[in-house]
Amino acid sequence: MSLLIHNTGMLVQTREDNAAFTAGREMAVLPVIEKGWLLIEDDIIAGYGPADTLPGLSSAITRLDAGGGYLFPAFCDSHTHLVYAGSREKEYTDKIRGLSYEEIAKRGGGILNSAKLLHGTTEEELFRQSMERVREIISFGTGAVEIKSGYGLTTEDELKMLRVIKRIKEESPLTVRSTFLGAHAVPAAYRDNRSGYVDLVVNEMIPAVAAEKLADYIDVFCDRGFFTAEETSRILEAGARFGMKPKIHANELDYSGGIQTGVRHGALSVDHLEFTGDEEIAVLLGSGTMPTLLPGAAFFLGMTDPPARKMIEAGLPLAMASDYNPGSSPSGNMKLVVSMGCIRLRLLPEEAINAVTINGAYAMGLAETHGTITVGKKANLFITRNMPSYEYFPYAYGSNLVDTVILNGEVVSQALGNFVPHPPAGGSGRQ
Ligand code: NIG
Ligand code: FE
Repeated sequence: MSLLIHNTGMLVQTREDNAAFTAGREMAVLPVIEKGWLLIEDDIIAGYGPADTLPGLSSAITRLDAGGGYLFPAFCDSHTHLVYAGSREKEYTDKIRGLSYEEIAKRGGGILNSAKLLHGTTEEELFRQSMERVREIISFGTGAVEIKSGYGLTTEDELKMLRVIKRIKEESPLTVRSTFLGAHAVPAAYRDNRSGYVDLVVNEMIPAVAAEKLADYIDVFCDRGFFTAEETSRILEAGARFGMKPKIHANELDYSGGIQTGVRHGALSVDHLEFTGDEEIAVLLGSGTMPTLLPGAAFFLGMTDPPARKMIEAGLPLAMASDYNPGSSPSGNMKLVVSMGCIRLRLLPEEAINAVTINGAYAMGLAETHGTITVGKKANLFITRNMPSYEYFPYAYGSNLVDTVILNGEVVSQALGNFVPHPPAGGSGRQ
C-alpha cells in the first residue's frame, strides 16, 4: 500500500543525519521543508521533498491532500500512567482549597487512592477505560507512548495493569513501551514496614513481571516521602538482572539524589527534575540519560518549574512528556505540553518541538524508528490545520490544530479537514 501526502504547507522535523537526539544549542534547530510531499510505502516513510521534486507516480496511488496543513512526526510521549481506574477530581478540589500533593498522599489519597480504585476494577473494565484515553491521545497526535504500572502495589494488581498495557500494545495502532513501577508508593499494608515492601518488589514482583515479559523498563518514584536513593538502587539492580533498563521519577519534590542514582544505573531517562542544580547538571552531561521534563505536572499542582533554560545552556538535551495520570496531570495532550514548555519553561518553539519528537523518541528507546521525518522510519505523522508558521502551533495554545493523524501509514483520526469558509465550499478539505 502506498500513500502520497501532497500540498503541505511545511514538512517539520525532516532529518537524514542519524542524530539520536538534539542537545544544547542544537535544540534550537528545527529542520523543515516548505511546501513538501511525503510518500509512504506500507507503514514506512519511503521519500519526501519539496513540491517541485515530486516524482511521477502512478495515477492509481492513494493521495491525501494536506490542504496546506503542516506535516509533523507524531508525538513521542515517553512518560505516562494512562492505565488507571476512575479519576481523582475530589483531590483536585482539595488542592484548590489549599492541601498539598504530599498532604493528600499522607491522608491515603493520591497514588493509594488510585490503587484502591484499581483493585476494585476488572482487567476488562480497566482496558476499556484506558482505551478511551488511548483514542483521545491518538486524536491529539501521539504516535508512540510509554505507559507505567504503579497503581497496583500488589503483585497481582501490578500484573493486571501490565497485562492491560500489553493488550494496548497489541490492539491499538500506537507504538507502546511498558514500564514496571511497583515502587510508586508504599502501600498502606506496609506503612510500618517499608523495607518489607522493597523486598516484595525485588523478590516477588520483578521476577513475576519478567516471567511474563511484561515490562521493557523499570521505574521508581525516587523522592522525598516516597523511595530513597538507596532503596531505588536496590530495586534498579534487581531490575537489571532481568534486563529492565531504568527510566525513573526523580527530583520532583526535592533534591532526592534520584538524578545521580538514575545516571549511575544507566537510566534511559530521569523524569520530572523540578529540583535540578549544578551538581545534577554536571552528572547528566554526557551521560546518555535523557533529562525529561513534565510541565503538565508542575502546572497542574502549582509547583516549582525545572530550570529548563539553564539545562539547555549547559549543553543538555531535554525531552518533554505528558505524565498523563489521575493525580498530577490528567491530560495526555502533547500539543498543550509544547505550549507549556514554551510559556512556563521558556523553551523556543523549535526546542519544544524537538523535546516531544526526536528527544522523546530517544527517551523511550525508539530513536531509530520514531520521532523524525526520515526515510525508513515508521510512518507515524500528523497533519495540522492551516497555520501561518510552526511557531503558531504552540502560540495558539487552546486550539486543537492537529487534524489528520496517520499511524503505521494509515489515517486513524481526522477532525475537520482544512476548510476555506470564504468563498464557500468547492475543492476544500481532504481528497
Ligand atoms: O509522575 N510523581 C509520581 N507519580 C505521578 C503521579 C501519580 C499520581 O498522583 O497518581 C507523577 O506525577
Ligand atoms: Fe509520572
